[in-house]
Amino acid sequence: MRLLPLILSAASLVALTFAQGIDIGAPLAGSAILPGQNLTVEVDRPNSLTGSEEVAIVISIVPCETSTCNSPTEDISTNLGPLGVILYNGPYNPQYDSVSPPDHKPPHQNFTVQVPSWYRSGDSVALAVTHISLVSAGPWVLLEFKNVSLVVD
Ligand SMILES: *[C@@H]1O[C@H](CO)[C@@H](O)[C@H](O)[C@H]1NC(C)=O
Ligand SMILES: *[C@@H]1O[C@H](CO)[C@@H](O)[C@H](O)[C@H]1NC(C)=O
Ligand SMILES: *[C@@H]1O[C@H](CO)[C@@H](O)[C@H](O)[C@H]1NC(C)=O
Repeated sequence: MRLLPLILSAASLVALTFAQGIDIGAPLAGSAILPGQNLTVEVDRPNSLTGSEEVAIVISIVPCETSTCNSPTEDISTNLGPLGVILYNGPYNPQYDSVSPPDHKPPHQNFTVQVPSWYRSGDSVALAVTHISLVSAGPWVLLEFKNVSLVVD
C-alpha cells in the first residue's frame, strides 16, 4: 500500500537524481566480445553535489532480439527484467584513479567478468548494469538500468 507513493516519489526524483546516475565507461557500445573471454567492465559514477550512498550493482548479459538491443519487449530499463545471465552481484565502490598524470576519469570501479562460453558467433547481446543507491536525505532508493549492445565474435 505504501509502495505506490514510494514509486511516484521515486519517479519525481528522477530529474533531481540524474546526477547520481552511472555510466558504462567500458566496453563501448558495439564492441565485439569472445565466448569465455574475461571482460573488463568500467562502471563510472560522475560526482554530484547531493549525497548518495551506494548499495549494490548487478552486471549481467541479456540476449537481444535485434542487433541494437532496443526491442520494446526486451527493454530492461522500463520493465525490470529479465536480467539474463548474472556475471556480478555485489558491492559498488567507485573511486578516483590515483594515477599520475591524472586521467580525469570520474570515480569508477572496474569489474572483470567472464563472458559465458555458450554464446555463438553473431549473437547480439547487451551488457546490462543495474544500480541501486540511496540518495538525499529521505533517503530515496534510486534503481537504475544501463546497457550497451555487444556482438559476439
Ligand atoms: C579469466 O580469469 C580467470 C580467473 O582469473 C582465469 O582463471 C581464466 O584463465 C581467465 N580466462 C582467460 C580466457 O583469460
Ligand atoms: C538498452 O537501453 C536502450 C536505451 O535505454 C533501450 O532502448 C534498450 O531496450 C535496452 N536494451 C535492453 C536489452 O534492455
Ligand atoms: C579501469 O579500466 C580503465 C580502462 O581499462 C582504465 O583506464 C582505468 O585506469 C582502470 N581503473 C582502475 C582503478 O584500475
